[in-house]
Amino acid sequence: MSNIILTGDRPTGRLHVGHYVGSLRRRVELQNTGKFDEIYIMVADAQALTDNFDNPEKIRQNIIEVTLDYLSAGLDPDKCHILIQSQIPELTELTFYYANLVTVSRLQRNPTVKSEIQMRNFETSIPVGFFTYPISQAADITAFKANVVPVGEDQLPMIEQTREIVRKFNQTYNAEVLVEPDALLPQSEACMRLPGTDGKAKMSKSLGNCIYLADDAADVKKKIMGMYTDPTHINITDPGHVEGNAVFTYLDAFSRPEHFAEYLPEYAGLEELKEHYKKGGLGDVKIKKFLNNVIQEELEPLRKKRAEYEKDIYGVYDILKAGTEAARNKAGQTLSEVKAAMKIDYFEDQALISSQAEKYSN
Ligand code: TRP
Repeated sequence: MSNIILTGDRPTGRLHVGHYVGSLRRRVELQNTGKFDEIYIMVADAQALTDNFDNPEKIRQNIIEVTLDYLSAGLDPDKCHILIQSQIPELTELTFYYANLVTVSRLQRNPTVKSEIQMRNFETSIPVGFFTYPISQAADITAFKANVVPVGEDQLPMIEQTREIVRKFNQTYNAEVLVEPDALLPQSEACMRLPGTDGKAKMSKSLGNCIYLADDAADVKKKIMGMYTDPTHINITDPGHVEGNAVFTYLDAFSRPEHFAEYLPEYAGLEELKEHYKKGGLGDVKIKKFLNNVIQEELEPLRKKRAEYEKDIYGVYDILKAGTEAARNKAGQTLSEVKAAMKIDYFEDQALISSQAEKYSN
């Protein structure tokens, strides 16, 4: 069996460090292992429109932002296809057929949809497009026969729903057309749930608590020096808490032993730093400065690469166009197999046509 990755993001804003440690960094590593036959990275604009249908301009502007974030993080158009979801009509067609295999009550039980409905105050009037986006996400994944889907844990219900659709399809149409995907979760708790700089669980543009991949060095430093730590750690000598302390969660996600050797050689590693903080005698400014060094070192190469791509936006659109074309090709093949399995391939089925001709010939 081929080894195929598909994943993607809704283009509703620039990507931040939460996206980076939660998925983007991993995608680049997977890409560079050379172990995958095909890699598809989707800018999920059609899905973004399911709850932004009245603001298409926002989605349209953010397609290039997300793509620049992808490219600057190291996704390489020679190794993966970056595609725009809405430009692949085959996905919409698959969604329509898969919808027959899913019940309303099953969609209502999808925990991600449930919490999003609450968040958006959709309880009394849920747009059908939004309600059914898990089906469209199943189309995204299966169109490319992806077996590996690197995502955050909030997406697990989507993968589960996709697996159910795959089983139901293959069983109903007695075919082995679709592939059951597995989610690939982030490596650690901190990567899975990176908090905002204010310590709040969710990073969001409206809360102003995100460090964006495209932020310049001065902005990043300012955000880090203003980060939430431990409100009970008032004097340096006070014992401190590392759980729920955003700076330490960020260090969990970003710091490596080499960083200590380079910037904080008086500590053997993160565990020793945490112990000192818990005991008391270690100030917030010191850990923030360290975090700043670590994050700047990680983000600087991205900023450099972004600046290069920003000089050639025409070229970036060409990358998207080529990626979308390749993706459309693949989705078209899958759609043909799906339609054949469902027996809706009338014009390709010469046996059907000739048997009916025969039936009426006498
Ligand atoms: N739902 C994903 C998100 O909100 C985006 C997405 C769309 C996706 N289609 C996908 C992710 C297919 C993985 C696979 O970020």
